[in-house]
Amino acid sequence: MIQLIRGFKDVLPGEVELWQMIEKTAASLFEDFGFREIRVPILEHTELFARSIGKDTDIVEKEMYTFEDSKSDLVTLRPEATASIVRAYIQHRLYAVDPVQKFYTIGPMFRRERPQKGRYRQFYQINAEVLGAESPLVDAQLIFMLVEFLRRLRVSDTSVHLNTLGCPKCRPAFQKELHRFLSKIKTQLCADCERRKVKNPLRVLDCKVLACREAVADAPAMIDHLCEECKGHFETVQKSLKKLDIQFEIDKRLVRGLDYYTRTTFEIQTGLLGAQSAVAGGGRYDRLIEELGGPVQPAIGFAIGFDRLAEIVSANNISAPEIDLFIATLGEQAKTAAFEWSCSIAVSGIKTEMDFSDKGLKGQMKKADRLGARYVLILGDKEIGEETAVLRNMTTKEQTPVPFEGIVENLKIKLKNS
Ligand code: HAM
Repeated sequence: MIQLIRGFKDVLPGEVELWQMIEKTAASLFEDFGFREIRVPILEHTELFARSIGKDTDIVEKEMYTFEDSKSDLVTLRPEATASIVRAYIQHRLYAVDPVQKFYTIGPMFRRERPQKGRYRQFYQINAEVLGAESPLVDAQLIFMLVEFLRRLRVSDTSVHLNTLGCPKCRPAFQKELHRFLSKIKTQLCADCERRKVKNPLRVLDCKVLACREAVADAPAMIDHLCEECKGHFETVQKSLKKLDIQFEIDKRLVRGLDYYTRTTFEIQTGLLGAQSAVAGGGRYDRLIEELGGPVQPAIGFAIGFDRLAEIVSANNISAPEIDLFIATLGEQAKTAAFEWSCSIAVSGIKTEMDFSDKGLKGQMKKADRLGARYVLILGDKEIGEETAVLRNMTTKEQTPVPFEGIVENLKIKLKNS
């Protein structure tokens, strides 16, 4: 039997309802904050990700699904959505009328990481991005919205981790100092960090390997090397978060895995997921729009790991699937009548089901129960003879006769009003 690809997964009915509820909660909240949905393609030119995420990052170096299409164009299944949203902002000149644009998008991403609980090769993200805004108030508002989103989903045991990565003015001096520090620690780093030390020294700071964590415990931190502007910006972010009653912790080691970040970076971490503790992450990327050929415009955003979130949102958030009406029939004549009625009733927005196999009445009542039907319309030989069906309220067990004459209209009125 052909099985699905390792690291990929199916979201089956039963779980899908939870996903739909999360999507609806995100869309409704984000739209209240002025975000509009954008949908960007799953396949992009490889160069887009290499230039934005950074060619020396783990994602670009070893995790992307990249291939040549039949015309030898190098294309990649998107490992994240921010780069595509920035590309769309530039390509469609979305900044022309108003540079400030707020977008959200929900969809699959692809990274060829080692699969484990909470880490997949196809995973879903919910992204929110504010392009064209520099104010630290925007940073605080975005984090506020993210925390409120998790609160609405009743996700507990989360903490906001906050850091700043400075800007091109203050970061080079810090990087030099970090480099000096790293060259002093010799054989203590893991093989990955030995490589990162040269290519991407910042990433050594948030390596999860214990030996590396210990080795960099006294490493210099960006937060102590900020220029005046970055310092002021970060202070206002913190002050504003306090005003909004958002608790956070400063995490000097939080550097994130993508190269485009500047200034504010943040993660929502949870103890509920084992090793994969980040349920959402984001930050400023004030240079990216310009670097990808667009206008000089700052930006900030975040992405929530949908799969991880779904795993920790408690199942009691979803109500059992429910239908309004099940039509139980006995005999061909009844089935034909029920078929026509069920189609007419379902198109008017009343969830209606019937049985197309030849189950007996008892079996059909069982199925109606399993589907959580509020009402069952019973239509057997006797009812056909009397031209009157029986409507059973599955909660009160009360049964009422419903004449065939005008039955569809009568049921629509009754079910919509109950
Ligand atoms: P990221 O930290 O790479 O950031 O991913 C964001 C979230 O996606 C993570 O916190 C995690 O919950 C989830 N995630 C990442 N990889 C996997 C995986 N293999 N399996 C399951 N979940 C995963 C970004 O992608 C940035 N684009 C976020 C951003 C938006 N920054 C600014 N705007």
